[in-house]
Amino acid sequence: MSYATVYEGWKSNPEAFWMDAARGIDWDRFPSKALNDADAPFYTWFDDGLVNTCFNAVDRHVIAGNGDQVAIIHDSPITDSITKITYAELQARVALLAGALRARGVTKGDRVIIYMPMVPQALEAMLACSRIGAVHSVVFGGFAAHELAVRIDDCKPKAIIAASCGLEPNRVVEYKPLLDGAIDIASHKPDFCVILQRKQHPAPMVEGRDLDWDAFQDGVEPAECVPVEGTHPVYILYTSGTTGAPKGVIRHTGGHLVALNWTMKNIYNVDPGDVFWAASDVGWVVGHSYICYAPLIHGNTTIVFEGKPVGTPDPGTFWRVISQHNVRAFFTAPTAIRAVKREDPKGEFTKGYDLSCLRTLYLAGERADSDTIHWAQDILNVPVIDHWWQTETGYSIAANPMGIEPLPVKLGSPSVAMPGYDVQILDEGGHPMPTGELGAIAIKLPLPPGTLPNLWNAQERFVSSYLATFPGYYETGDAGMIDEDGYLYIMARTDDVINVAGHRLSTGAMEEVLSSHPDVAECAVIGVTDQLKGQLPVGFVCLTKGVTRSNAEITAECVKLVREKIGPVAAFKLAVVVDRLPKTRSGKILRAIMVKIADGSEYKMPATIEDISSLDDIREALRTIDYAK
Ligand code: COA
Ligand code: AMP
Repeated sequence: MSYATVYEGWKSNPEAFWMDAARGIDWDRFPSKALNDADAPFYTWFDDGLVNTCFNAVDRHVIAGNGDQVAIIHDSPITDSITKITYAELQARVALLAGALRARGVTKGDRVIIYMPMVPQALEAMLACSRIGAVHSVVFGGFAAHELAVRIDDCKPKAIIAASCGLEPNRVVEYKPLLDGAIDIASHKPDFCVILQRKQHPAPMVEGRDLDWDAFQDGVEPAECVPVEGTHPVYILYTSGTTGAPKGVIRHTGGHLVALNWTMKNIYNVDPGDVFWAASDVGWVVGHSYICYAPLIHGNTTIVFEGKPVGTPDPGTFWRVISQHNVRAFFTAPTAIRAVKREDPKGEFTKGYDLSCLRTLYLAGERADSDTIHWAQDILNVPVIDHWWQTETGYSIAANPMGIEPLPVKLGSPSVAMPGYDVQILDEGGHPMPTGELGAIAIKLPLPPGTLPNLWNAQERFVSSYLATFPGYYETGDAGMIDEDGYLYIMARTDDVINVAGHRLSTGAMEEVLSSHPDVAECAVIGVTDQLKGQLPVGFVCLTKGVTRSNAEITAECVKLVREKIGPVAAFKLAVVVDRLPKTRSGKILRAIMVKIADGSEYKMPATIEDISSLDDIREALRTIDYAK
């Protein structure tokens, strides 16, 4: 069947399309219908189905006789170890952990925060929660105590599962002091914490609150899977928005299972038993969908990689993992490929590895530049497929459906809309733009199964962030266009979200931190173009009157403050002092123009600018920045 037939099939009868896809999942009670639009614009899917995520990701494969198949390969060049876990072993481990959580009072609907590095126990913790209907919220290890505290106060977890440390190539990241700090700051306190003690850096425990991962599970009764409603949340994942407060994206169980399962064959073209590798982190949506859930639901082997594209130990690591574990489909961010290309421009490190197992390289998370795509295609000799999605959607909005029909690749485009998504380009007034013209990218409601139905505890914000601008549509926050063949082009964000090394960050959150510095009167953070990371945050600060300390001292404190409050992942290293920020007469900071000046691109002078000479201050300040920092 062609892509056009499949897409048109969905469009003409979405209900039948999704009910058919639902048959790929093992339900305790098969849903009587797919969409519930009774409460539009709040749509839900598979409401009256009963199902369990962990059963579909683990138990059903054991029951089908595939218990001996490897479910998870933990490949950790950082600790120089490789561990394999079969589906049968995974079932036993997850059932025990779930039993231990249940014995401590965690039940359906309770939240559990998971703060862990790239170890298989992170996936086991996610699966154990979903086994008993608890709602997990994984927090990325690169976030600092304050960010963790914000999430604790928002989702109010009954328990927190953490590791004693994470391992970065240049240092051990002690998670435990960050966790303790976060619990101190937060108003909500968890009943207990479970700590996975890693031998690289065991942590001191807090009596009465912290429980050791192994001891906690000793002698407990394993838990069976608890069937939940299709609309029961399987997880909350916080993502950056315009303000400092992260948005808690909710994922409903039924749609998540159905949609992810569908993508594995149709987009990634893998069959059960194949090895699938997404080199991301469990703290991001890619990690949720394509390290943990989708490959396991579909019966694939997934790789949990604890390393970096370069330096662990060399830029051949990706190629070693692919050939050693027989990886069929590989997924990473363009920035990771750029990092490899920078250290090994000729692809010398591919030599000596048999990469014939690899069929396709998938890229997402940020714009894939043509240089990177060409380079990867040349050295790997496989199609390089860009695809576009967001934390909110949980899987691709636009992609090249390799398992349906490989479409011609157009460089600079993540290809075409996937079934479920009616993507349109709108002008400011919400009217469709002509083909080939730039506008806001919006998706006609309802969004398909598996996408966010709401934000945790923040329905009004859900409406104002996504539904209010274009009634009847979901506003993606991206701008772009669609060409005459229906190919999408994603050009830029329309809000203050930036993308640093494939990590989604809020400049608003960084501005809030800078503003808390006593010497800072006003500030603006923008994302400037960077060859490696795509974008880098740069902070401009105006000082409070009468401050006499040196600019260098203050900017160094600003950098330290962002690292302490948000975390190293913000990669905030560049800050400069300016006298004034360019503003409109109504006082709005002209961040978009600042970005254009920094990138050396053309811009139109807004008629409403308060003082044109303030742009000279920005140019001058930019000249003093040492980007090599
Ligand atoms: N825990 C703690 N700290 C972390 C971390 C984690 N899980 N992940 C990153 N950090 C730290 C890094 O150590 C670094 O700290 P430093 O300032 O002390 O050096 C900082 O956060 C910034 O990290 P990053 O922006 O990732 O830069 P890097 O130089 O370490 O690595 C790349 C650059 C391109 C190799 C790396 O970003 C990468 O592999 N990116 C791919 C991202 C990805 O997979 N995204 C998911 C979407 S598909
Ligand atoms: P995240 O929620 O972290 O997945 O980030 C989502 C955002 O990353 C999108 O809204 C885009 O701005 C950007 N993005 C993701 N994938 C792509 C892509 N293939 N091309 C361009 N931008 C992308």
